[in-house]
Amino acid sequence: MDRWVSINGRVVPGAEARISVFDRGFLFGDAIYEVLTAQDGRLIFWEDHAARLFASAARLALPIDVRPADLRAETETVAARVGGAASLRLVVTRGEGLRLAPRDAPRCNRVIIGQPLVRDPAVEAGYVLHVVRLAQASMDAKAKTANKLPVVLAIAEAMRAGADEVLRVDDADRILEGGTSTFFAVFGGAVHTPPLDADILEGITRRKVLQVAERLGVATREAPIPHAALARADEAFVTSSTRGVVAVRRIDGRAYPNPGPVTARLRAAYDALVASTR
Ligand SMILES: Cc1ncc(COP(=O)(O)O)c(C=O)c1O
Repeated sequence: MDRWVSINGRVVPGAEARISVFDRGFLFGDAIYEVLTAQDGRLIFWEDHAARLFASAARLALPIDVRPADLRAETETVAARVGGAASLRLVVTRGEGLRLAPRDAPRCNRVIIGQPLVRDPAVEAGYVLHVVRLAQASMDAKAKTANKLPVVLAIAEAMRAGADEVLRVDDADRILEGGTSTFFAVFGGAVHTPPLDADILEGITRRKVLQVAERLGVATREAPIPHAALARADEAFVTSSTRGVVAVRRIDGRAYPNPGPVTARLRAAYDALVASTR
């Protein structure tokens, strides 16, 4: 596996990448992250990912001691080393310290892991979603934190049930999001997705897909989706940066077209947007 890692600006092959056992990300999950893609060293939707990373940092009062331009240059260096289609994981931890209380002046550790972007065959095959009641997946759904234990356990449960991804519902049986993806359903030609005041992350692919839909004249609706409404949905799909638009073929034993016509149109338009992005 051709992995490259930048640790606080120093690039090493993946097999040589090391970080301290005293790092708070390792000890407490006291870290934030982003995952984005690149094509031939060209970062896809960098500004959106950088903005979300700094917003996550602000929500957790985690001071990032690197300028966005330098972080971009470091990320581009890793993307160029990997070459071709790459996935890039940026992790910023609160630095080192064995005590739970953050130190007064912590120095962050920043790690950028780059590897070839390999599409899981399940993405092409269409997903089976496993519904789990998990109102809160992390302390703050709006911050992309590395502290993901509830989702790790939910995804393990989904896999045991033969599914590819989790679909979280809240205590009022409203759909939230996937374990690491945004959920959409199509009703009568209109694309519905849960609103941002729900306990979900604002997916960057979500934002782009909604823009693409509007450009194509496909109606969009950001409003709660009751779990029971899925029985009436014509199509469903999930989105994320590494996977793009993934058709959903089954939820709760109910089959959906794979892909449905609206999903296929949005996927083609989203892929074209990624291909044309500089
Ligand atoms: C909880 C959660 N929701 C949604 C997404 C999709 O976000 P994006 O489209 O920005 O990759 C992710 C991505 O990892 C996620 O972790």
